[in-house]
Amino acid sequence: MTVEGVIFFSIMAPRKRKPTSSETNDAGESRAKSKRAEKKEATSDEDLPRHRVTVRSLALRMAAIFLFLGLAHWYSVDAGLQSLAKQNEDVPLRRFNVTCSSDFQSDLKKFKGTGCAPTQCGRVVMDGLISKSEARHLLELAKNGISLGGSNGGASILDLHSGALSKGDSFINIYKYLEKGELGSVFHEGDFKLYSTVAKKIKRAIAKEFGIRLDKLHLTHPTFFSRMTNKPAKTIHDEYWHVHVDKETYETFDYTSLLYLADYQKDFEGGRFIFTDKGSNMTVEPKLGRLSFFTSGSENPHYVERITKGTRYAITVSFTCDKTKAIEHPKLHKS
Ligand SMILES: *[C@@H]1O[C@H](CO)[C@@H](O)[C@H](O)[C@H]1NC(C)=O
Ligand SMILES: *[C@@H]1O[C@H](CO)[C@@H](O)[C@H](O)[C@H]1NC(C)=O
Repeated sequence: MTVEGVIFFSIMAPRKRKPTSSETNDAGESRAKSKRAEKKEATSDEDLPRHRVTVRSLALRMAAIFLFLGLAHWYSVDAGLQSLAKQNEDVPLRRFNVTCSSDFQSDLKKFKGTGCAPTQCGRVVMDGLISKSEARHLLELAKNGISLGGSNGGASILDLHSGALSKGDSFINIYKYLEKGELGSVFHEGDFKLYSTVAKKIKRAIAKEFGIRLDKLHLTHPTFFSRMTNKPAKTIHDEYWHVHVDKETYETFDYTSLLYLADYQKDFEGGRFIFTDKGSNMTVEPKLGRLSFFTSGSENPHYVERITKGTRYAITVSFTCDKTKAIEHPKLHKS
């Protein structure tokens, strides 16, 4: 038996309960009642044959040990998960530094002296930079936009820059395939304005936190809304749960940001964002309006846990140091 088991065993050993002072001071009926109860307890213990007491308490102790071991196992599984931000927390600004990977550094060498290399690689969470009402507005935009198409599997995206929208097992370009009237009834000038305002706020926050020059950082492709559910994957695009490095997936990425538009454990279950580190992984629990950003190299491998219930909305807003890979803010295509 383990040491913890022994300690637990002795803690669980039954003790004779003494009446508390308030109980002994109780007057009248309640005193009589407790006296009767005490008497009953005593007689029932004395009445039991000796071996039955032993068997009963042994069974109790065994149950306690199993419960304890179960809890210990559950705790050790969860101990491999460190939290950067919990859903029920309000995190004005929280930062976790990591050493920049060599691939990230060598990629940024091209931009050395240009003011686009971070003072230190890392991960940041900020609640409140994007207001709840801004986040709710973007959520409506995501819902309405993605409802024009939608993947057959569990992951759908809408990229307002290129017009790419998941539909069935592939993608359509909403700016080509949708009637102008249909586009106009779903998207409004104000939506695009807000989208740009939010992207600019995020860019400023990244520049400030990583100590880079604002004019050296550019919005890049792909920047998109995502909707995730527990629907089984139909194509590789539906498989969001694989560990990956953004810079390997999308060469253009230098800084990745995610703006969450739904609440973990309220709107959906599963779906936490997980940085995979040696020895201990680190989670970010999504929350409406929560912004998270990080350097995109292999110092920050990550994945999204599979959704088990509900729908998870977010926006991925990506930035590059490479001016030739910059993209414009989207505009409402009018007839
Ligand atoms: C992370 O690195 C930045 C930049 O070097 C530094 O200012 C900050 O104090 C560090 N934060 C932590 C939590 O170590
Ligand atoms: C971190 O996550 C990866 C991917 O799910 C997993 O293989 C690994 O065991 C996890 N590490 C820890 C310490 O929990």
